[in-house]
Amino acid sequence: MKAVLALDEGTTSARAILFDRESNILGLGQFEFSQYYPKPGWVEHNPEEIWEAQVRAIKVAIEKAKLSPQDIVAIGITNQRETTIIWDKNGKPVYNAIVWQCRRTAEMIEEIKREYGDLIKEKTGLVPDAYFSASKIRWLLDNVPGLREKAERGEVYFGTVDTFLIYKLTGEHVTDYSNASRTMLFNIKKLEWDEELLEIFKIPQDILPKVKDSSEVYGYTKLLGREIPVSGDAGDQQAALFGQAAFEEGMVKATYGTGNFILVNTGKKLLYSKNLLTTIAWGLKGEVTYALEGSIFITGAAVQWLRDGIKIIEHASETEELAKKLDSNEGVYFVPAFVGLGAPYWDQFARGLIIGITRGTGREHLARATLEAIAYLTRDVIEEMEKLVEVRELRVDGGATANNFLMQFQADILGRRVVRPVVKETTALGAAYLAGLAVDFWNDLKEIAELWKVERVFEPKLDEKTREKLYRGWKEAVKRALGWAKI
Ligand code: G3P
Repeated sequence: MKAVLALDEGTTSARAILFDRESNILGLGQFEFSQYYPKPGWVEHNPEEIWEAQVRAIKVAIEKAKLSPQDIVAIGITNQRETTIIWDKNGKPVYNAIVWQCRRTAEMIEEIKREYGDLIKEKTGLVPDAYFSASKIRWLLDNVPGLREKAERGEVYFGTVDTFLIYKLTGEHVTDYSNASRTMLFNIKKLEWDEELLEIFKIPQDILPKVKDSSEVYGYTKLLGREIPVSGDAGDQQAALFGQAAFEEGMVKATYGTGNFILVNTGKKLLYSKNLLTTIAWGLKGEVTYALEGSIFITGAAVQWLRDGIKIIEHASETEELAKKLDSNEGVYFVPAFVGLGAPYWDQFARGLIIGITRGTGREHLARATLEAIAYLTRDVIEEMEKLVEVRELRVDGGATANNFLMQFQADILGRRVVRPVVKETTALGAAYLAGLAVDFWNDLKEIAELWKVERVFEPKLDEKTREKLYRGWKEAVKRALGWAKI
């Protein structure tokens, strides 16, 4: 039995999954690693811990699948995007990874945005924000003693987590178009690192990786005792779009994780939206496919907060039962703006709020308001998308899609079909497909599209009047959360 190994390195855990040619999962390993919060709003990971968790996950996946390294034809990588690492020639990080969620450079960005906001949007497709790698690299160069000098002498390497893992595996310093497009340093029209942006952020070009297709052999690893090609690389949200076989223009996927990330394939068209990101979905055979993205920072993390923060549930799955106890939200809304709001509001100073509470409000209201919020936030993004492209249905993946209440409510509030596939590990699957395509394990996109199968379709059932009334309530609640941290 031959298989492709996908490494899915996310924000909280490193996973490894083996897929066969029919996209069945043969084995899975997963290990969490520590989250470091050195100051309020700062988030870091230890890259060595990520690497160790990844290697352990690989071993477990292979054991579970009862395969040997001889059976693995290729390795694909997919990763939490934007998270920034700088390391030396021995692969030793000079500082912790600065995670995408980290807000330490928010002030720096506010300043740069005033002068260069339009230029950044035009060149990179991104809304200037501390979210992306550029200001994190600048912070490291300015704050780690001696690092800028080393960088100028070409003695260190920058990379997002994909690049770090590929370097560890093969010794090559590369990334793919999808990851490059999240650094805020990559010109998505010219498909090259942008000298003017490097100048603005004071970053020497020598530390940047070579940018390659998302599906090609980058190098070979001997980690498992024999040479195996590493031949797929894409940011996790783009990989999920690929794993959902959303190859045609207008196809949309939403991944429900810590946050929600909604991407629509726009093909060869580079579309600009004020409140969404223009990004590269993938590069294949020297051509890139573009996407529009709505990044919502907190969705599943709000359910975690119900569990670990205010402790009103023990398991995330309880929210479904609790929400169903009510016929409506009874006027209670929860805006989970824990770290500000991403798309489409882009307000670094918004903060969370619960509104509409009465003496009768209980944990079922909070559970329902949390699930509803995930669906409203997703509609906010889809509404923005619809200004530019027609959205017919939403393909969904990620942990929270197991929640049938949420999926039905999502369809109701969108007034669109929500389609859940059989294989829910679409992020890892996307990475596997990209790696497999490069070594002819799969032949083409048509073959992959045929492997994609529907598990369940949620049709909208709510009448329009109720739908719009509920959504109006949400918009009012959001208004009250905006700018709160400035008060
Ligand atoms: O842009 C951040 C995103 O890639 C993180 O995804 O699934 O690791 O939380 P996830």
